[in-house]
Amino acid sequence: MIHFPNDFLWGTATSSYQIEGGAEADGKGLSIWDEFSHTPGKTAKGQTGDIACDHYHLYKQDVALMAKMGVKAYRFSISWPRVQPDGEGAMNMAGMKFYSDLVDELLANGIEPWVTLYHWDLPLALHQKFDGWLSKKVVDCFGKYASYCFEHLGDRVKNWITLNEPWVVSILGYGQGAMAPGYISQDKPYIAGHHQLLSHAKAVEIYRSKYQSTQQGQIGISNNCDWREPKTGAPKDLEAAQRSLEFFLGWFADPIWLGDYPDVMKKRLGDRLPSFSEEEKKSLLGSSDFFGLNHYTTLFASDVNEREEMESNVHGNGGLFEDQYVKLTADPNWKLTSMKWAIVPWGCKKLLLWIKDRYDNPEVFITENGCSSDDQVIDGKVDDPHRIEFFQGYLSECHKAIQEGSNLSGYFIWSFLDNFEWALGYEKRFGITHVDFDSLERTPKSSAKWFEKVIEENGF
Ligand code: GAL
Repeated sequence: MIHFPNDFLWGTATSSYQIEGGAEADGKGLSIWDEFSHTPGKTAKGQTGDIACDHYHLYKQDVALMAKMGVKAYRFSISWPRVQPDGEGAMNMAGMKFYSDLVDELLANGIEPWVTLYHWDLPLALHQKFDGWLSKKVVDCFGKYASYCFEHLGDRVKNWITLNEPWVVSILGYGQGAMAPGYISQDKPYIAGHHQLLSHAKAVEIYRSKYQSTQQGQIGISNNCDWREPKTGAPKDLEAAQRSLEFFLGWFADPIWLGDYPDVMKKRLGDRLPSFSEEEKKSLLGSSDFFGLNHYTTLFASDVNEREEMESNVHGNGGLFEDQYVKLTADPNWKLTSMKWAIVPWGCKKLLLWIKDRYDNPEVFITENGCSSDDQVIDGKVDDPHRIEFFQGYLSECHKAIQEGSNLSGYFIWSFLDNFEWALGYEKRFGITHVDFDSLERTPKSSAKWFEKVIEENGF
């Protein structure tokens, strides 16, 4: 039997737009996701997060469910336009009260809140006024919003995550158009990414200078990365895999842990990659108290020379292919989740060890890992052995990584509830709790019981 360190943190995660609903409740402003999901053709079956899991109204019962499962920590995000409707003007106290009440409810149930400030629902007004993340103006706006959250919640919230997955925001939102705000562009991702990094640094600077000494919390960022396994032992493929990881995780982690963008990105992108001033580099370096990691899958990476060859072989989720020249493929024997993401537990361990080596062994929290599957409700129960197998596989690799020196301190399951899976709508079920979206009833799946057991066996 596997035992994790005694103080290992077990949690589960969600995000505001995916579960809250209450799209215009109590003075909430609109976000780019409200607009995107209401634009015909952007989401599966035109589904939106208008109601979602109605967590905005049902949060007490959700916290009770988490407590019953034995969850020790809960990661959720604040909807920026709920607390500041136009992103730069007056605050909405009613919106902030919702989060304050949620935090109180969690603490009363012995659950530690982990709060993400930005999980993709930018105030629509900032997008309309100055193109959101494409303008440097967003940096000060984000700083003010963050400060407001620290001020109102920081007496009780001790774990802050500035941004969730700036890579996804940049590539899928500003490059491939699959997510809000839906831009298709070669250059915009790097600009959006740059301003997200500066916004992260700004929020951290404010937290550290004004709040951290009295509130005694920690603040960091959550980046996402798949593992890239060299397809063969050929030097070209080894380089391709490394290049792919630097374009993926290095893009956002290098400026924070090493002080600037990876050289390979600077060389390949030239002027298309914005640069940091010396002062900005200083504000970024060391600006995360921990390494938040969202990890789901693995692909093989190999080198390509010819553009045509690359385009005909592109296999999903690679970022801007023409900048990297890396061909991504899957092993046909790998099992897939219902989102067609390959289940490759050993990739998780390899990624943790890559982070350990590249970034001088930071403290890591896996802030998301999980799998989607076509769960069925039979007699009011959901049996999901494949999800249990997924968690067993990934957790045992996490354990091995710890034994090999990774400073992994916690693990959050994505997701607590089945929810609005962005452009894919409600059909892709990630939750350890099944939600029936017609009645909004919750049914914990068998993996929730299994997770409860893991927590128990580890002595908590
Ligand atoms: C992450 C994202 C989550 C969730 C998950 C599963 O990229 O942060 O919000 O959607 O993927 O697709």
